[in-house]
Amino acid sequence: MKNELSQILDEASAEIKSHGADLEQIRIKYLGKKGGLTDILKKLGSLSAEERPIIGAFANEIKTKIEELISDKQKELAKLIADKKLIEEKIDVTLPSKQKETGKRHPISQIMLNLEEIFIGMGFDVVKGPEIEYAYYNFDALNSPKNHPSRDIQDTFYIIKDEKEIREDDVLLRCHTSSVQIRFMENNKPPIRIICPGRVFRLDHDSSHTPVFYQVEGLVVDKNITLNDLKETLETVFNVLFGEGTEIRLRPHYFPFTEPSVEVDCKCFVCGGNDENCSLCHGEGWLEMLGAGMVHPKVLAGCGIDPMVYTGFAFGMGIERLSMVKYGIDDIRNLYENDIRFLRQF
Ligand code: DAH
Repeated sequence: MKNELSQILDEASAEIKSHGADLEQIRIKYLGKKGGLTDILKKLGSLSAEERPIIGAFANEIKTKIEELISDKQKELAKLIADKKLIEEKIDVTLPSKQKETGKRHPISQIMLNLEEIFIGMGFDVVKGPEIEYAYYNFDALNSPKNHPSRDIQDTFYIIKDEKEIREDDVLLRCHTSSVQIRFMENNKPPIRIICPGRVFRLDHDSSHTPVFYQVEGLVVDKNITLNDLKETLETVFNVLFGEGTEIRLRPHYFPFTEPSVEVDCKCFVCGGNDENCSLCHGEGWLEMLGAGMVHPKVLAGCGIDPMVYTGFAFGMGIERLSMVKYGIDDIRNLYENDIRFLRQF
């Protein structure tokens, strides 16, 4: 019987060594209820009283050995699996990293910040005002007559509008940032030197107009301010924005809040006025840039500033227009479609 037991140990240890994966089956095969070792132990009863304890102890020894062999093999396998995992999951720190693209400022923000920097450099303050505005600040205080077409609901977005009469306390989305100059002049006395950048709203929609767009309004009020100061100031700005030597010209125009009023053109900085087929100015030689003028005496007086003592100039420019000219963009809607292929160019 001892030999039978030793043989079971040999067989079991050979199987454990070679197999591995089905260790549980091996355990059942030798140590289970119907296993080889159990079979032998059942025969213990047929042995003599002297032999029984000896064989019994030996059988237990064999049982423990088989259990140990199985447990060792289990540990060995677990280690192999862990090692394999380690090798497979190895991180190669020398691999190039995934590239994340860095975003950049939208062309409108670029021009806006550019302008702010230029004006701050010339001693201007940057002032902001509300986008939802009273008709008073948007129109009346700017000397816009009650019958002015821009007051019409076809041109301006109203939030509160009296149906029977045109009122100063109608509430609207401002159609220009000129309203901010009134708010500022009501609370500040000359000398005044400000720009008012911001978002404005009009019922306009085509390849050169959008219902929401950006403007920068400018205002200078002091003693002895002349139209020449306006020209000098704007020329300086355009020289920085479009390049040294950029000439400007003033053309007579009309705005209710300025007298005289002008439109300001910029010499085409692509052809310098020398190419009939220029892609930017189409042979015009000049590019229309903004509206401006000397602040109307009524506007100054309405804000409590004596027009006999003080004069001022004001201007208002469209940021989309400036960026279209600067970057050669021919459809304003490109600026709002958020097409990354378009925006990446600037
Ligand atoms: N507010 C005018 C507009 O939106 C632009 C403008 C013209 C502003 C002349 C001014 C100015 O301050 O003096 O079309």
